[in-house]
Amino acid sequence: KSMLKSDLRDEQLIVASNREPSVHVRRAGKIVTMRPASGLVTAVEPILRACSGTWIAHGSGDADRDTVDSRDHILLPEHQPAYTLRRLWIDRIDEAGYYYGFANGGLWPLCHIAHVRPTFREADWECYRRVNEKFAAAVIAEARIKDPLILIQDYHLALAPRMIREKLPDATIISFWHIPWPNPESFGICPWREELLDGMLGSTIIGFHTRFHCKNFMETVDRYLETRIEQEHSTISFRGQPTLIESYPISIHWPSERERAAWPTIAKCRRDVRQRLGLDAQHLIALGLDRFDYTKGITERMQALRSLLEQQPQLVGRLSLVQIAAPTREELDEYQAFRVEIEQLAAQINARFARDGYRAIYLFTEHKGAEEVQELYRAADICLVTSIHDGMNLVCKEFIAARDDEDGVLILSQFAGASRELSEALHVNPYHIEETAQAMLRALNMPIAERRERMQSLRSTVREYNVYRWAGAMLGDAARLRLKDRVQARV
Ligand code: G6P
Repeated sequence: KSMLKSDLRDEQLIVASNREPSVHVRRAGKIVTMRPASGLVTAVEPILRACSGTWIAHGSGDADRDTVDSRDHILLPEHQPAYTLRRLWIDRIDEAGYYYGFANGGLWPLCHIAHVRPTFREADWECYRRVNEKFAAAVIAEARIKDPLILIQDYHLALAPRMIREKLPDATIISFWHIPWPNPESFGICPWREELLDGMLGSTIIGFHTRFHCKNFMETVDRYLETRIEQEHSTISFRGQPTLIESYPISIHWPSERERAAWPTIAKCRRDVRQRLGLDAQHLIALGLDRFDYTKGITERMQALRSLLEQQPQLVGRLSLVQIAAPTREELDEYQAFRVEIEQLAAQINARFARDGYRAIYLFTEHKGAEEVQELYRAADICLVTSIHDGMNLVCKEFIAARDDEDGVLILSQFAGASRELSEALHVNPYHIEETAQAMLRALNMPIAERRERMQSLRSTVREYNVYRWAGAMLGDAARLRLKDRVQARV
């Protein structure tokens, strides 16, 4: 963390993302601050705290306008300012087309290959382009020097790198794509595939979570654009400018001794969570914690629980799934339909096994604060991350970080980027319901010594490859490329 800070001493750091690290909303006449449920925010916020700089993001809260100065700036965190948040205002029409329409109705299902048909509309594309221009203009306006370090985050802003490059040719632009990149055939469905690729290739570096996504991206570029690709250097040259394509697995801030000292004990967390749900002290809890999104495999997880309870009736009355599903992108039909589907499935499964007040599934469709989430991680026997496709997934890494008792079993989808690093989790194919049910049984029967060994190993991986390593690797590559450019400019 401190190395990262000193490396960046003389640089100007500007980050742009759609999602903001802090939302202000009005509740009962008061302004309250919320942290959005977003892997991007979980990862990027500690980097800005460590390095300072400016973060440009959409101001989506109804009280956000009351928190900024005349330049739309606000200092965060408010009690101990470390960086500047510049809010960018997107009106309802653009939000509908850019965020709900093109980004989340088109690119999100396109890249996740989630069996939800991507929707592409000309009008959404226009909004998408307009909002990208807005972000690019905001980045350019923040630049005080000719070569700032600019971090563009995610699929909402694929066009911004090229737009920024045109005005700031010397800038170092790093784009990080937080979601999967599909194969060329799948990506080719998008009517504006060439424009998106061109936009992204305005970057100095394009980062993905895994080599597999890098390979898919390079093959996609090769299929649809006339470029020069140097496989051995993982570089694409387009319009006379090279772009490095590299994998940087994202991670979390690893809690410090001091932070951990403030946590309630595991025994207390176990007791309090069970008490609140009206469960006895021995009740087994499998935890699911996601945004309420069709890519997260919540259906498959519930089906696996049903299958397990059918095959192992002795678990009926003893094991429950506690599923937190934080509402997200609710204006989209797919998300509304998915919510109805999950609520019905949970009700059916609960009815099927109901007896003496037993509930197989506790479904909470609400956003939980950090402390409550932490308490749940520490109270659970199993954590289920069964995404049908996920760029990385940080819930599993947060679960691991929370378990300083070195206990608890992680069941992890082989289709989450995290599965490449977290080999000591129990890996499952979420489409294979029986396999997930068997993994749950194995987790419940796992001897304590094995649980401990697995958790110790997982903890050392996440501690080592924390989010500062992620940023450090990216910024290290950027520094190397800058130096090379400077040397070349002298020749
Ligand atoms: C994923 C995306 C992020 C996004 C997050 C939450 O993790 O990669 O860019 O912020 O989902 O989704 P939302 O639409 O609420 O920002």
